[in-house]
Amino acid sequence: MKTLLLVYHSLTGGTRQMAEAAARGGQAQSDVQVRLLLAVKAQPADVLAADGYIFATPECLAAMAGLMKDFFDRTYYPVLERLNGRPYAILVCAGSDGQNAARQIERIATGWRLRTIAEPIIVCTHAQTPEAIFAPKVISPDDLARCEELGAALATGLAMGIF
Ligand SMILES: Cc1cc2nc3c(=O)[nH]c(=O)nc-3n(C[C@H](O)[C@H](O)[C@H](O)COP(=O)(O)O)c2cc1C
Repeated sequence: MKTLLLVYHSLTGGTRQMAEAAARGGQAQSDVQVRLLLAVKAQPADVLAADGYIFATPECLAAMAGLMKDFFDRTYYPVLERLNGRPYAILVCAGSDGQNAARQIERIATGWRLRTIAEPIIVCTHAQTPEAIFAPKVISPDDLARCEELGAALATGLAMGIF
């Protein structure tokens, strides 16, 4: 059975909802095992054991979240050259931008020789003030549906051996 690994970090819940939606989409494909792991918990062995990936992060200070970076810092070299060609996709929850977080993960994925299966999904929560930044986030049904479709597409491709 193929495994889809979702690695995420979330401070105020937006990215978590996006990652959970993508996981739901993946779970609709019964031939694929879906693992949803917090970035702080994910280890090199988890990365090696998976066949495809979704990386989900908030954008913080024009970068991926620090704990998502910590995940890549801990796992990058232990699995280098052993993931070549595997498929992946990116989810970003941002206040108003999100492009740089996506770009950073794309560069790491290029180093791992992963293959992208879709454009990053970037959802903006429009949080600008200190109060809004730290308020719990609610992602719209439409945006969650996009994440769910992405998870389903990646899982279906894995199950069918397309990727
Ligand atoms: C310290 C900090 C820095 C942030 N910097 C950015 C930023 O550079 N660009 C952006 O679009 N949003 C930025 N945001 C907004 C978050 O991306 C936004 O609140 C998002 O919903 C967080 O995702 P989460 O709900 O999964 O934690 C920042 C938030 C925090 C707490």
